[in-house]
Amino acid sequence: MSEAQLRPVLESKKALVFGIANEDSIAYGCAKAFRSVGADLAVSWLNEKARRFVEPLAQQLGASITGAVDVSVPGQLEAMFDQVRDRWGRLDILVHSIAFAPKEDLQGGLLNCSAEGFAKAMDVSCHSFVRMAKLAAPLMTEGGTMFAMSYYGANRVVPNYNVMGPVKAALEAACRYLAYELGPRGIRVHAISPGPLKTRAAAGLKDFELMLHEAAHKAPLGELVDIMDVGYTCAYLATPFARRVTGELVYVDGGANLIA
Ligand SMILES: NC(=O)c1ccc[n+]([C@@H]2O[C@H](COP(=O)([O-])OP(=O)(O)OC[C@H]3O[C@@H](n4cnc5c(N)ncnc54)[C@H](O)[C@@H]3O)[C@@H](O)[C@H]2O)c1
Repeated sequence: MSEAQLRPVLESKKALVFGIANEDSIAYGCAKAFRSVGADLAVSWLNEKARRFVEPLAQQLGASITGAVDVSVPGQLEAMFDQVRDRWGRLDILVHSIAFAPKEDLQGGLLNCSAEGFAKAMDVSCHSFVRMAKLAAPLMTEGGTMFAMSYYGANRVVPNYNVMGPVKAALEAACRYLAYELGPRGIRVHAISPGPLKTRAAAGLKDFELMLHEAAHKAPLGELVDIMDVGYTCAYLATPFARRVTGELVYVDGGANLIA
């Protein structure tokens, strides 16, 4: 899609995006799509090591707020929302595009996942979204839209997805309950389920190349998705065109989820 064709349907909207690691990140696709239709951006990086990869992307997108957020470090999430409150006074869009599981717990199968590994994966990949929603909701004074990235392995067994299956299932359920609790405040919450994409997080999954191959083969649309497909789907859902849509699980996978 050429950017010249796009209308600024999110002009003056304020979007806070968590989860950019590099230019392959799904969160980067979301930030880029929001920016291309007029939104102002706040973006985070994980830590000092990640900063040198993310800061140039943030600058290129003209992000007006940036900062380090490791959701495991008490106070960092709150500090980012303080910046948003001080600078913008409000928020319209929130994206949670982060996931983590310790490698040995991720790769060893669910039976072998330790209690600590399970808890860590659940905290970073699921409960952090609940914490974000709690901080974001008071700033969404004119309503808003929240997104969390899930995957097909939440609902069907995908070999090698292991502990992330139950974690994403919890994330999808959290989206529905948050949609219920925040609906009366005009805040909509969606789980987005992209098809497999070659990102750094995906590199931690065993036989990921096979998943990519299968996804392209299965999808009725016949091709893999890219990060801009995910970004534009979120951009649409954040516009008033989707104002009566909430609590949905939206697949961005070329239709692969339809096929047995
Ligand atoms: N790549 C895929 O095939 C795919 C498919 C469906 C869903 N997803 C989901 O999309 C989301 C984004 O992943 P991605 O594929 O873009 O990979 P990515 O590696 O680019 O992004 C993952 C992000 O999580 C962040 N993160 C990890 N631990 C964190 C912590 N403690 N605090 C803050 N941030 C932390 C990383 O810094 C990184 O920016 C994840 O939820 C992932 O499960 C990915």
